Amino acid sequence: MQKVDVVLGLQWGDEGKGKVVDVLTPSYNVIARFQGGPNAGHSLKFGDENFVLHTVPSGIFRKDAVNVIGNGVVIDPVILMEEVDAIEAIQGDITSRLLISKKAHLILPTHRMLDAASEAAKGKGKIGSTLKGIGPAYMDKTGRNGLRVGDILSDEFAARYEALKAKHLGLLSQYDFSFDISEYESKWLKAVERLRKFSFIESEVEINRMLSEGKSILAEGAQGSMLDIDFGTYPFVTSSNTMAAGACTGLGIAPSRIGEVYGIFKAYCTRVGSGPFPTELFDEDGEKIRAIGHEYGATTGRPRRCGWLDLVALKYAVMMNGATALIMMKSDVLDDFDTIKVCTGYTLAGKTIDYFPFESAEKLEPVYKEFKGWKCSLKGVRSYEDFPAELKDYIAFIEKETACPVKIVSVGPDRSETVIR
Ligand code: GDP
Ligand code: IMO
Ligand code: MG
Repeated sequence: MQKVDVVLGLQWGDEGKGKVVDVLTPSYNVIARFQGGPNAGHSLKFGDENFVLHTVPSGIFRKDAVNVIGNGVVIDPVILMEEVDAIEAIQGDITSRLLISKKAHLILPTHRMLDAASEAAKGKGKIGSTLKGIGPAYMDKTGRNGLRVGDILSDEFAARYEALKAKHLGLLSQYDFSFDISEYESKWLKAVERLRKFSFIESEVEINRMLSEGKSILAEGAQGSMLDIDFGTYPFVTSSNTMAAGACTGLGIAPSRIGEVYGIFKAYCTRVGSGPFPTELFDEDGEKIRAIGHEYGATTGRPRRCGWLDLVALKYAVMMNGATALIMMKSDVLDDFDTIKVCTGYTLAGKTIDYFPFESAEKLEPVYKEFKGWKCSLKGVRSYEDFPAELKDYIAFIEKETACPVKIVSVGPDRSETVIR
C-alpha cells in the first residue's frame, strides 16, 4: 500500500523543516502542508537564494513536485499571495503546481485583530503569538463559524464575510484595544480575488487518488511537537495538532496510510515566545548558540531563546509521533564548544523524573550529561565516516536514548550541506 511520509519538528519549531523538505522533495511527487498557517516560517537556501515560506509547501522550488495546501491549514490570502509573487519572480508561473484544499479555513483581518487584542489583554501571561490570527481562526473552525477557501466561490461569500466580521467586531469591542483594519481589509479582499487563479480542490479525495496511483507524498509539518495543542506546553502552544496524527486529519488520510515519520530536531534547543523551556540558557553559551546559529525568528525576527538539547522532551516527541527516523539539524552550530550538554532528566521537588510532567515546568531543574565538543568545522563534511569521533558519540547517545536512528545530519543551511547516512 502506498503511504504518506511525514516530516515534522520534534521540539518548539524552527528545527529546519523547510530545508529538509526541500532536500527530500526530489524523491516525492507531492508535498503537502497539513496544519498551521503563516505563523510558520520555513527557510530554504540554495546557492545565493534565501527564501522563507509561510503557507506554501517547501517543495515549490523543485519544478517536478506538486504542492498541496491541505484542509488542516489556515490561510491568510494576503500572506499567501505575497509569497506566490515572490516565488513566481524566480520560478515563473506556479499555478499548476500549487493546489489548495477547499476545506482550508481563511484567516480574516479581524482574526488578526482578535489575536492582537487577546495577547495584549493577557499582559505578562501572553503566549508570544506570531499575531497572524492563528488562534482565532482555529477557534472559528472548531466553533463552526469559519469561512473556508471553497466559500470564496459562493455568491454568498461577501455576505458571509461581512457577518463574520461583524461578529468579530462585537468581540473586539469587549477589549480595550484600538485598531483599524481598513487598509489590511482592502488588501485582503484583493488577495481573495487573486487566489481564484489557483485550483481549489477536494484535497482529501485527490490525495487518496494520487496514493492509489502510486504517487509518493511527503507531508510537511509546521511548528513542533512541544507546541502541539494537546501535548505541548499548554497554554503556551499553537492552536493545531502538530504531531503525525495531524497529518491524518489535516490531509484526510487514514492512520494506516502513514509511512516514514521523519522527526527533526536541532543539535540543541530553541524556543520563540513564552512558556516552559527547561534547558534554556541565560549565560554566554546561550548567547553563543544564538549568535552562531542566527537564532532569530524567520516570521517575526524575534530573538529565539536557546538552550541545550532536551532529551526528555525529545523522547516524548519521538514516542507521540511514532518517529521512524531522526534528522539532526544545525550540528555545525556546536562546532566551537569545548563541552556540550544534554538534558537526560529533570529534578522536580527533589526527585529526578524522566518525563515531561503536567505540573508547572517552570520548576524543573535539568539533569545534564556532558559530552566533549568536536572543536572542528563540519561545514565541508559530506559523509558520516568523515565526522569527528565526538560527534559520532553524540549521535550514538541520542540514538540509544530515543531508540531511533539518526538518518540525516545537517551541517549548514544550504541544500548541499547535508549528510545522508
Ligand atoms: P523551520 O521553521 O523548521 O523550517 O526552520 P526555520 O527556517 O524557521 O529555522 C531554521 C534556520 O536554520 C534557518 O535559518 C535555516 O536556514 C537554518 N538552518 C537549517 N539547517 C541548518 C544547519 O544545518 N546549519 C545551520 N547553521 N543553519 C541551518
Ligand atoms: P515553524 O513552522 C516556532 C510559537 C509562537 C508562540 C506560539 C503560538 O516555523 O517551526 P501562534 O502564532 O501559533 O499563535 O503562536 O507558537 N510558534 C512558533 N515557534 N516556529 C513556528 O513555526 C511557530 N509557530 C508558532 O512563537 O510562542
Ligand atoms: Mg520556522
